[in-house]
Amino acid sequence: MTKRAFVIGDPIEHSLSPALHSYWLKELGITGKYEAIGCPPRYLAQTIKKFVKDGYAGGNVTIPHKEKVMLLCDEVDELAKKVGAVNTLEFKDGKVIGRNTDIEGFIENVSRETFTFSGKNALVLGAGGAARAIILGLKNEGVKVTISNRTKDKAEKLAEEFGCEVLDWEDRNNLAEYNVLVNTTSLGMENHPPLEIDLSSMPKDSLVTDIVYNPLKTDLLIQAEDLGLEIEMGLGMLVYQAVAGFNIWFGKKPNVSRETFEFLEKKLEPNKWVQQS
Ligand code: ATR
Repeated sequence: MTKRAFVIGDPIEHSLSPALHSYWLKELGITGKYEAIGCPPRYLAQTIKKFVKDGYAGGNVTIPHKEKVMLLCDEVDELAKKVGAVNTLEFKDGKVIGRNTDIEGFIENVSRETFTFSGKNALVLGAGGAARAIILGLKNEGVKVTISNRTKDKAEKLAEEFGCEVLDWEDRNNLAEYNVLVNTTSLGMENHPPLEIDLSSMPKDSLVTDIVYNPLKTDLLIQAEDLGLEIEMGLGMLVYQAVAGFNIWFGKKPNVSRETFEFLEKKLEPNKWVQQS
């Protein structure tokens, strides 16, 4: 039987996930299908019910459904509950199980042989949904986290919830004490305002990463690289968050290789892809 999965969002035309999952299906020789489904919020419940009935294995959930879909799940795993968002659904014995794989997507992307999380001091820019998953991931790895956000209230709320410090948005150039910096805002994305920041006070062994992947290498990452800092591009988070879902629906862990990235980078080149999973 052909195993089927989906990504549901609104709008959905520009999602990179169908290309990525179809690439892996082909690479692994699996007879499966991964479809992009555009669905406005009012039809979300009935669409999910239909997919369960139709025998889909599950799917991804993207903007604007990540929070609302939790109400439609029979079970939500602990991490997704803490983040307050579900990005991956597993349909099992007629039940809908909600998970959040953005956390492992972020952690896997920055994990490497030469990088250890323990003892790190991270500054997270932004306090939206993406920040929640990243802060939780960093805290779970034992990293000390400070949040800086234009709207300070939001940073303070998150800091209280997850046990973090707050840095005033106006002070974001004072980076001497941080050795990890993560941009979780939309600043620097194609057709968005730039992220104005000066990284020159960061220690030389720092890692800078961005959730923005359009453009692939943001001005933030270019500046970091010019200063000799380590960088990790945002596209990796999208790729690594997809691994767990693929494994759940199609029964095999896909390989993340140079070719996987080259394939997606080519897709991104014409710039018609907006940022979402
Ligand atoms: P997501 O859920 O994808 O993280 P979001 O909730 O809209 O998206 O959050 C976007 C983040 O980008 C927020 O931290 C937002 O800051 P505010 O909380 O002050 O709105 C940040 N952001 C967006 N535009 C910004 C700008 N022009 N300057 C500074 N921060 C900005």
